[in-house]
Amino acid sequence: MLATECLGAEHVIFLRQLEHLENLINGNGSNAAISATVATIETAVDAHAQTEESGIYPALEPTLGRSMGPLAVMDAEHADIRKTLTFIKGTNDKTPRKELADAAKHFINVLREHISKEDNILFPMAVQILGVSKLGAMAKQCQSGHHKVAPCCHPLEG
Ligand SMILES: [Fe+2]
Repeated sequence: MLATECLGAEHVIFLRQLEHLENLINGNGSNAAISATVATIETAVDAHAQTEESGIYPALEPTLGRSMGPLAVMDAEHADIRKTLTFIKGTNDKTPRKELADAAKHFINVLREHISKEDNILFPMAVQILGVSKLGAMAKQCQSGHHKVAPCCHPLEG
């Protein structure tokens, strides 16, 4: 398995969770239900982002640069996602539902677009730039090395 496939497998799980969150927002989900659902997604999304930021992004940096171009866009989206999650964490049952729902919808939209860009643009570029042997080694290193608890290891272990 390649590191890109490993991360892509997690994207599939995130997309399903986002669907569930969207149904809660569009239905009668309470603030508590929305916040709790976001909280369950948050830990995995943050660990996933850290895995990318310490693995595939730096590996692509010599070729793509970091201050502009695709990696700069990815970094900005990670920052946007984290900022939105921090806002949602600070809400409570007194927060106007629309305020929480708008923040959760923003989280859904940014994460969906981000995943689409990685799956359709960045990861195919990574295969071209880094090659399958490097991406295979990165996945193995993730499984056995200091990133043992990183989420992209789970599909390898499963
Ligand atoms: Fe990702």
